[in-house]
Amino acid sequence: MSKKRMIIVGVGGMGEAWMNTLAASTDADYAALVDVSAPTLARQSARYGVPESVCFTELEQALRIPADGLINVTPPQFHEEVCCAAMRAGLPVLTEKPLSDTLPAAQRMVACAHETEQLLMVAQNYRYQPFVRTMHDLVASGLYGKPGQAQIAFYKGPHFGGFREEMPYPLIIDMSIHHFDMLRYILEAEPVAVSGRSWNPSWSWFDGDASCQLVFECSNGLSVLYHGSWCSTGDETSWSGDWRIECEGGVIASEQDIVTQGATGQPMRLAATAPMPLRAQAYLLDEFVRALRGETVPATTGNDNLKSLTMVFKAVEAVQTGTRVTF
Ligand SMILES: NC(=O)c1ccc[n+]([C@@H]2O[C@H](COP(=O)([O-])OP(=O)(O)OC[C@H]3O[C@@H](n4cnc5c(N)ncnc54)[C@H](O)[C@@H]3O)[C@@H](O)[C@H]2O)c1
Repeated sequence: MSKKRMIIVGVGGMGEAWMNTLAASTDADYAALVDVSAPTLARQSARYGVPESVCFTELEQALRIPADGLINVTPPQFHEEVCCAAMRAGLPVLTEKPLSDTLPAAQRMVACAHETEQLLMVAQNYRYQPFVRTMHDLVASGLYGKPGQAQIAFYKGPHFGGFREEMPYPLIIDMSIHHFDMLRYILEAEPVAVSGRSWNPSWSWFDGDASCQLVFECSNGLSVLYHGSWCSTGDETSWSGDWRIECEGGVIASEQDIVTQGATGQPMRLAATAPMPLRAQAYLLDEFVRALRGETVPATTGNDNLKSLTMVFKAVEAVQTGTRVTF
């Protein structure tokens, strides 16, 4: 089958991961590269052997190149502009998370996908890791009964520089979206209310609040405590955080992405890891390509992702107002 040709927009930071994913793929290839930074564009063009004739600093020029899809890896505030221009030009889009930096912009993007009848898919790669699938499958198996309470702890201290250090609520908007999306996937639960608070530790290098504690109430009665920080001073968790899921008859947990399980009164033991031949970006690219071939509908469409993004912005509203916010 012929390779699907992708325009990649934003080839700097995370764009590098997508360049590598495409380089390793037998199903997809580069159609064109776009970046507002000419030096970044020149560097990636040389590194990945993409001809300069299909490297552009303006999206409009790239949209004239024949292509099958567009992968958007720009910062969140540009997602609406880039994705909607692509969909209006007749291209399906796989965009990086968060879908957008505001809920109204994300809703406009989903409306644009609907109007143009183009696929809008969101790169929620954290779902597609073996240990995440292991927890999901264990919960879904019902081995320990229904989950009733869960806790997610996330502590990291990265110095990124750039847009994250200037945006409001960087942890909740740019990072916790992964954990919230994982929560919906692993627990097969939809939150209906959130309360909590956020703050910035005295040593924070972020302008916006880099720490929070939230409680999500879910439609099935499940209560989830989420606590995290992007200003951790040590003993960090993994990027996916540490999880503890308490079910009626036992516990499913993960620490540093290693899953353990135990029935009530029994010691915790290692869980068998679910097999996943494709992971993270490779999984997403494969799902995107299969969707372009009409073989599947991706799990993380823009429409589905609005539910994860709603958790983000309801959480922001809860910490801003100090009230319990319903969905
Ligand atoms: N899924 C993940 O695990 C993961 C990890 C890191 C970042 N991300 C996401 O990827 C996106 C990009 O983050 P990053 O860390 O790579 O940011 P970055 O600032 O490091 O890189 C963004 C690149 O996009 C370019 N750019 C900016 N505006 C543009 C525009 N309008 N048109 C074309 N190019 C433009 C910049 O010049 C830069 O090269 C964000 O949405 C971020 O949340 C996802």
